[in-house]
Amino acid sequence: MRACGTSGASVTVRVPAKVNVQLAVGAARPDGFHDLANVFLAVGLYDEVTAVPADSLRITAEGHDVDQIPLDRTNLAARAAELLAARHGIEPHVHLHIAKDIPVAGGMAGGSADAAGALLACDTLWSTGASREELLEICAELGSDVPFSLVGGAALGRGRGELLTPLPVGGAFHWVFAVADGGLSTPAVYREFDRLTEGTQVPAPEADPELLAALESGDATALAAALANDLQPAALSLRPALTATLDAGTAAGALAALVSGSGPTTAFLVKDAQAAQQVAAALLDSGTCRAVRVADSPAPGATLA
Ligand code: C5P
Repeated sequence: MRACGTSGASVTVRVPAKVNVQLAVGAARPDGFHDLANVFLAVGLYDEVTAVPADSLRITAEGHDVDQIPLDRTNLAARAAELLAARHGIEPHVHLHIAKDIPVAGGMAGGSADAAGALLACDTLWSTGASREELLEICAELGSDVPFSLVGGAALGRGRGELLTPLPVGGAFHWVFAVADGGLSTPAVYREFDRLTEGTQVPAPEADPELLAALESGDATALAAALANDLQPAALSLRPALTATLDAGTAAGALAALVSGSGPTTAFLVKDAQAAQQVAAALLDSGTCRAVRVADSPAPGATLA
């Protein structure tokens, strides 16, 4: 019997993007990372990763801006295949094809999604029988956001974001995302955070109980009031033009606007699907972004397609 998601000798996995509804950032740690209280919410924009047996490790990609992603072993998806193979004494001979729909370098964890997708696809293709715990361990080794890409839904990420506690979500939330020109480097945004907070006492990051209650009740107005991103001042400092995008979405009737993660994608929480269409159209008309995307949350984590 063939497992769901496999077709002959190929396996396809679908993985969601994320938005951080709260990103509380602490001071830089000795290892250079920052302790976080990171409330992840998976949103229904997906990359698909297909794994096919091959003579060597190879990556191809299709979709918007794929000229900006590396197709060599520095791609996190390739590293995922290599780490899994090394643990199980397998040669990482696989062709990974990435169909990208998540904005590249946009603060929506597209690279992390591809890593989680490649890991699950290779695990299925190679029948390694890795436990969920082992997969999550490999994800954490790959990057701070990768475990959440595997898990999806909503979760609180502690540590550098990799220590996850699932969170209940009481209803669907509707979003519009404005895609900016070019990407922002996550390390550069954290460095700018350090620069902006230099000489100040950065408080220990804590999840906001009101935000968690808003998620649990499915109350979009309450969630809008609680959205918070400590990286936003740093992203706006590096990309001042994003302020105009945030203002355009708010003027168009979004309940709230914020930078998604380290940016430069901006996220707009709206009250329903109709409002999403209106805000998306107004954002495009405003000329303050390159493209818009509409998506609902929560979305499932990495899933065999
Ligand atoms: O974990 P990941 O490889 O995605 O992190 C990329 C970079 O983002 C890190 O090298 C670090 O500069 C920054 N980062 C951080 N604190 C975190 C997560 C990421 O400083 N909690």
